[in-house]
Amino acid sequence: MISAERIPNNVDLHLNKRLQRALEHWQPQYIQWWRDMGPQGFQSYHRVYVRTAVSVDPSGWAHFEYVRLPEYRWGIFLADPVVDRTIGFGDFLGQPVWQEVPGEFRNQLRRLIVTQGDTEPASVEQQRWLGHRCPSLYDLRNLFQVNVEEGRHLWAMVYLLHSYFGRDGRDEAEELLARQSGNRDKPRILDAFNEPIDTWLDFFMFTMFTDRDGKSQLLSLSESSLDPLSRTTRFMLTEEAHHMFVGETGIARIIERTCQLMKEAGFSEDVRRLGGIDLPTLQKHINLWFSLSLDLHGNEISTNAAAYFANGLKGRAEEVKWDDHKVAEAEYQVDVVRDGHVESVAVPMRNAMNEVLRDWYVADCQAGVDRWNKIFERHGLSDRLRLPDRKFNRGIGQCASAHFDPEGRVLSDEEWTRRKSEWLPGPADKAFLLSIMDRSIYETGQFANYIAPPQRGVKGKPVDFEYVRTEA
Ligand SMILES: [Fe+2]
Ligand SMILES: [Fe+2]
Repeated sequence: MISAERIPNNVDLHLNKRLQRALEHWQPQYIQWWRDMGPQGFQSYHRVYVRTAVSVDPSGWAHFEYVRLPEYRWGIFLADPVVDRTIGFGDFLGQPVWQEVPGEFRNQLRRLIVTQGDTEPASVEQQRWLGHRCPSLYDLRNLFQVNVEEGRHLWAMVYLLHSYFGRDGRDEAEELLARQSGNRDKPRILDAFNEPIDTWLDFFMFTMFTDRDGKSQLLSLSESSLDPLSRTTRFMLTEEAHHMFVGETGIARIIERTCQLMKEAGFSEDVRRLGGIDLPTLQKHINLWFSLSLDLHGNEISTNAAAYFANGLKGRAEEVKWDDHKVAEAEYQVDVVRDGHVESVAVPMRNAMNEVLRDWYVADCQAGVDRWNKIFERHGLSDRLRLPDRKFNRGIGQCASAHFDPEGRVLSDEEWTRRKSEWLPGPADKAFLLSIMDRSIYETGQFANYIAPPQRGVKGKPVDFEYVRTEA
């Protein structure tokens, strides 16, 4: 079961006293951050039925029990090493992977790890008020499960910083707790992580689309020639899958309920009157979170991305599925905006690696939307949800300089300003959502009116299990 060590781990931390002391010094700062910036109001008097990683083998990493959130056993777990692993892409293809950070790539690697690490606590901060509007105890538990695992992902990155980057790494680890989502002076690094998430529709969209960007990034980092980074991210992917499950099934349950209400309303689609979430509102939130998450993949044409690939630091998702791992000659077609028009240009594929990863991401999102649309089919409804064109509402990259509608047609500034509220959620949408999420549902087996119950509970427990217990 859970090891007695202060910091549970599978990296023989006790053999490295210096590292152990450094992490034990960081640990109370982390707990203080969790108390200050983690789930508000659920720190002291609640016990949550969560899974805790206690080892990386299939039976050990999902251990379930009730815990008070600040007492969750955040640990350091790396996937098992692959024997004789060699570098799988770039200029060093075929050479043995690195167990230490090469001096010449130290800055690039630090930047990759810090950028990934910064998103983990940021999402906990963004979601910290959601517990007060939860649609059920089942959903409240899922929220906290996601939150504690994002905390563990921060631990994973801090372990790498402390182990391989000396003094700089320790400073970066402190900075990861000092920046705060939405803080004017010390914001989180990436824009999408500075907006508060105050409705459950946004939370489910975030875990569907933004956690899936996390999956893109983790897949590409798990290819890394820095072996400890590869092993760390490989294990994080197992946890990430659950976050996307929470998002995808959360939206699926909202769609299910919306379909029921549409039938009750006589197919008028006026489900808001019945306290449900109407399809235009769902579509607008897909448009928003998909486009924000596309931005997180970075510019379509990027010398940084080319350098990361050349140096073997960050590969493509599922690199083995490609034939050419050097990518010295290949080109890739990328859309750019020139004089207000979209043109497809060929660029060296190494420079287009962000776009290559984005292609993987878009296909993965599309598969999820297709599964959602099956729900309408089952109800005999002709309505469908869709992903907007990837040029829509972009703030980063080649298409950020122009405006596009969700079909990808160029718009004038005037038309965009006039019509964007048709495509993106506005203040009235948020006010409506907050009005149907105005209280928490803490009764076991009860669900808010806008969301259907899940098909099954957690880890074999019934849907009406007391997933979060309140202590007097
Ligand atoms: Fe994460
Ligand atoms: Fe996540």
